[in-house]
Amino acid sequence: MWTRRPSTAPPLRAGSGWSGEVHEAGARFIPQLWHVGVMRDPRTGPYPNPDLPSVSPSGMFKPGGKVVYEPMTKAQIRDVVDSFARAAVSARELGCDGVEIHGAHGYILDQFLWSELNKRDDEYGGDAIQRTRFGVELIEGIRAAVGPDFPLVLRISQWKQQDYKARLAETPELLKAIFQPLADAGVDIFHCSERRYWDIEFPGSPWNFAGWIKHLTGRPTITVGSVGLAGAMSVTELGAQTAVSTDLRPLADRVARGEFDIVAVGRALLTDPAWARKVKEGRFDELLPFSKSALDILT
Ligand SMILES: Cc1cc2nc3c(=O)[nH]c(=O)nc-3n(C[C@H](O)[C@H](O)[C@H](O)COP(=O)(O)O)c2cc1C
Repeated sequence: MWTRRPSTAPPLRAGSGWSGEVHEAGARFIPQLWHVGVMRDPRTGPYPNPDLPSVSPSGMFKPGGKVVYEPMTKAQIRDVVDSFARAAVSARELGCDGVEIHGAHGYILDQFLWSELNKRDDEYGGDAIQRTRFGVELIEGIRAAVGPDFPLVLRISQWKQQDYKARLAETPELLKAIFQPLADAGVDIFHCSERRYWDIEFPGSPWNFAGWIKHLTGRPTITVGSVGLAGAMSVTELGAQTAVSTDLRPLADRVARGEFDIVAVGRALLTDPAWARKVKEGRFDELLPFSKSALDILT
């Protein structure tokens, strides 16, 4: 989103190079588009530029914290919506099979949804429903740009990097009130991020976050969080050693029962690209624990 520095990479063309090779290998792929909002530090990170302040609904980095930047203007909101739409069109033109929008983990869309960071008194702030307006405009803008048939996934979470215990909704009714407008705006699939997929969302039901979102919105959902591992991912200790869990049968049963539709795997796959094949073939004793060295591929 913030790439103002010129790219040295050669232009990519639809169906050529990497996108064609992925498809020829029988795989599909959907890139994720991010805007981290106030979590971008203009002094550090991959694109430092102190002259380019971070944008966010109300300029606050954390709950109860001071306002560190100017709240976004409406022109900036429009600019971000248009940037996402342009990026999604690029993904389609490059031969991707869809696009995922990062609306979770305390990044920009989530900053608008979260009452702690959205203190606006215009039409983008207010109650939980009014705070969906930015997300709705974002999804509508992307949908209008890519057309009706290009798969659009929205990653969502209750938890935030700024606060693991934060929640957008304490009741199913409120959860539906927040995410149904986003579904109606054009989301095909919700990618429902939890740190542990086995955590139930509301008392009195065994469903997790993905289970509730599926049943409330009618959209297919992806579940994620500690699949194949015994402990949750921590943003502050990203490389923390985590033991293998081979207890995957209950998860498969939940897919079969229709609680959610797709299972996403993070760290276990970073550790071991053959993870899915090993699980499919029942080679559970060959699964590897997650360790810091798995992150070496990212550098
Ligand atoms: C090194 C690393 C990088 C990640 N990058 C992203 C990311 O770019 N976008 C995202 O939505 N989640 C990201 N996550 C979170 C994962 O997608 C996933 O939700 C989280 O790790 C929990 O799943 P797991 O327990 O299977 O790892 C990342 C996690 C790790 C460990």
